[in-house]
Amino acid sequence: MPQLHAIRADITKLQVDAIVNAANSSLLGGGGVDGAIHRAAGPDLVHECRLLGGCKTGQAKITKGYRLPASCIIHTVGPVWRGGLQGEPDLLASCYRNSLELAASKQLHSLAFPSISTGIYGYPVELAARVAVNTVREFGSELSSIKDVIFCCFSDGDLALYEVTLRANSD
Ligand code: AR6
Repeated sequence: MPQLHAIRADITKLQVDAIVNAANSSLLGGGGVDGAIHRAAGPDLVHECRLLGGCKTGQAKITKGYRLPASCIIHTVGPVWRGGLQGEPDLLASCYRNSLELAASKQLHSLAFPSISTGIYGYPVELAARVAVNTVREFGSELSSIKDVIFCCFSDGDLALYEVTLRANSD
């Protein structure tokens, strides 16, 4: 079972094997964490992304990290929140599961996730935190290469929610 941590940080600064990007289906960059990752990684990232042919919601693709301290970037596309009855929880869980599986297939040990879908895509963060923590607990235990999973929060409020969620699910 990997160690799960929640921290408040700029994900572009983390020295881990892979950071996860909350991308859109073009994989060509955007706002939020996606924009920050592309700016910090530099222009070679979008060149590699152009070769990937996009990414469907819930799926994940991997690139190099370029100028980031992280070695790799796993790009996943979260669901847009439309009220919760349009498959959003399953799609969000798929983002975490497919990112973990991709990391394990590359023998990566440490992985940092932003709070996928909870910014521009509008997913309520308390609901998203539950999906994130439960999915990583469920699938992380099957993937022996994964040792550390960081939930990288961008605000104190989000960090408090993730900490509560981690404690509530720890037994
Ligand atoms: N480090 C960590 N977390 C961050 C950072 C950062 N540097 N910057 C923002 N966040 P969002 P989404 C947090 O909107 O909702 C893009 O345009 C942010 O506070 O980045 O999945 C894509 O191209 C929030 O908690 O992603 C898509 O079009 C979390 O990251 C769309 O936005 C996710 O917010 C994806 O929307």
